[in-house]
Amino acid sequence: MYTDLTGKVVIITGAATGIGKAIATRLANEGCKVVINYFKKEENPEAIVKEIEQAGGHASIIQGDVSKEEDVKAFVQFAHDTYGSLDIYVNNAGVENEVPSENLSIEDWQTVINTNLTGTFLGCREAAKYMLDHNIKGSIINISSVHEIIPWPHFVHYAASKGGVKLLMESLALEFAPDGIRVNNIAPGAIDTPINAEKFSDPEKKKGVEKLIPIGYIGEPEQVASCAAFLASEQASYVTGTTLVVDGGMTKYPGFQAGKG
Ligand code: NAI
Repeated sequence: MYTDLTGKVVIITGAATGIGKAIATRLANEGCKVVINYFKKEENPEAIVKEIEQAGGHASIIQGDVSKEEDVKAFVQFAHDTYGSLDIYVNNAGVENEVPSENLSIEDWQTVINTNLTGTFLGCREAAKYMLDHNIKGSIINISSVHEIIPWPHFVHYAASKGGVKLLMESLALEFAPDGIRVNNIAPGAIDTPINAEKFSDPEKKKGVEKLIPIGYIGEPEQVASCAAFLASEQASYVTGTTLVVDGGMTKYPGFQAGKG
């Protein structure tokens, strides 16, 4: 438990499912008041609010598209109107799709860039603006990916977006460090969430992914959420401008694990 998180107000984007949902649950358990942005009604965002409230926590939902400026502004206004502050902002929403690059349409390119990169920029901008205006020494956390480091053929729009989030985060961290606003990334490896449901339902493909993970298994969203709780807390008060890689060693060249090469 991070006791300094009690009563802190947090917005998490794309938080009705997967990693975002786990972060929302974890931060609510830490005592945060949680604003859950969801994208699609069928993701049943009410269920997570119910779960959090039944456990004695505080949570509210707001629909919206992170790539739309007005929606992101509305998230911050909603947090202010509902809970009176904004201390932590988690840019989690993201999309990916597999396409050989010679066939990658401008529509697919724009959907991924607008959601993953522009959406993260808008979240950082609006959160920082609020924190500066209210003199809050807040924490901004972006869920990037190991693909802010590892190139990814057939997913070049995704890799470009996450690579962009890396330098976005580093530049903003420098800019806002004097104001006490910390900006960091979490780069998950392969985590068992809806984004991978199709891939992991094929045992061969799942085995192929497991081979890329030195620790030997696909991660759980809660293992990412515990890192988000750390970065949000005062225990990370001297951490800014960095990426916390949560990947079971995937970025450490697992091909060399057997000592060959
Ligand atoms: P997920 O598909 O469960 O979560 C993505 C969420 O983003 C969904 O709730 C979706 O509705 C929401 N979303 C999509 N477009 C949106 C938009 N325009 N506005 C608002 N919300 C939108 O998948 P997961 O894995 O939980 O993904 C969360 C983040 O973690 C993403 O940024 C993803 O790129 C990143 N990530 C996931 C990894 C994994 O293996 N699961 C690995 C590395 C990074």
